[in-house]
Amino acid sequence: MLKSCGKKLLLSLVGSMLTCFLVLVVDQQKGQVLSLGGGGAGLLLQPFEGSRGDAAGLRAALPSGQSHHDVRSFSAYFSKLARGKAEAAPAVGGGPEEGRAARPQLEDISPQDVFIAVKTTKKFHKSRLELLLDTWISRNKDMTFIFTDGEDEELKKRTGNVINTNCSAAHSRQALSCKMAVEYDKFIESGRKWFCHMDDDNYVNVRALIKLLSSYPHTQDIYIGKPSLDRPIQATERISENKMHPVHFWFATGGAGFCISRGLALKMSPWASGGHFMSTAEKIRLPDDCTIGYIIESVLGVKLIRSNLFHSHLENLHQVPKTEIHVQVTLSYGMFENKRNSIHIKGAFSVEEDPSRFRTVHCMLYPDTPWCPRSAVY
Ligand SMILES: *[C@@H]1O[C@H](CO)[C@@H](O)[C@H](O)[C@H]1NC(C)=O
Repeated sequence: MLKSCGKKLLLSLVGSMLTCFLVLVVDQQKGQVLSLGGGGAGLLLQPFEGSRGDAAGLRAALPSGQSHHDVRSFSAYFSKLARGKAEAAPAVGGGPEEGRAARPQLEDISPQDVFIAVKTTKKFHKSRLELLLDTWISRNKDMTFIFTDGEDEELKKRTGNVINTNCSAAHSRQALSCKMAVEYDKFIESGRKWFCHMDDDNYVNVRALIKLLSSYPHTQDIYIGKPSLDRPIQATERISENKMHPVHFWFATGGAGFCISRGLALKMSPWASGGHFMSTAEKIRLPDDCTIGYIIESVLGVKLIRSNLFHSHLENLHQVPKTEIHVQVTLSYGMFENKRNSIHIKGAFSVEEDPSRFRTVHCMLYPDTPWCPRSAVY
């Protein structure tokens, strides 16, 4: 009697535990709607195929690429990203993927044909920009334009192309869109063939960039970069006071850098030039890089070309294979919960001397640089 009672008790305990577990799982899966903008104006962002909490939401909610408090640990976050990637890779579309195999050269592109915009803010002129000026920008001053938000005579002495956007230094959606709008206008004005947007924590391997761009026609519609996620972002576009229209589209994450051909950039003009970029961003209530994706994919119907050669600090940079570092187009670095995220490379400098690994990469790519040790082994 007692025995069977105990058995029943045990069974019902197990049953209720299972139910609890199921409820938790279901809750987790549907509770991933993020609200952006904060102004109560109805933008909802969610992964396209209802699924776990993810980087699209993170990325959209935190355009600065700051850490998200809900993510418990670095490795959990990365394994989540990796899992999503593995599951979704073959299934979801999102346009053609630029493979590992080198594409044949199609056009003769010189550095003067490319406009590289580096977005920064006055606060980071010393801590971030110096490193770029010492490394990749030093070799590519004519093609690199620095978009910032404050006057800096020291900076102007180091490189000619410094543009004070007069945008706010706040890290708000509006301030970021304001800078992107100025970048776009300056690119159109420049007459160059390719526009590439970079962040101030990107190392740009210009040889690899030019090689990549040379394999596409700049007069056609080309938008190339790395999505922050494995599925399109879903947003709600406000058409009128009480009319909403759902849209979903891919976008290249600004943190990894992306490029747009002149042919496509010209078509974007009605939504991107003058003050239009800001009003487009307001209408969709999304950060600057999402707004670019919205204009290109959603409005113009042009597909993002996904490339694995672009890298942001939102991915596990340890996974970039050592033997392929020289062919990557962009690299990045960052911190997450006091853990360093950077590529793994041995060589010229120790991790203490060169935590971003950018100086070491630079010495590998350009061993004749005066400050590079002659004897480094990579
Ligand atoms: C920012 O303001 C200065 C001073 O008024 C002006 O010369 C400059 O052209 C402005 N920059 C942009 C990108 O409009």
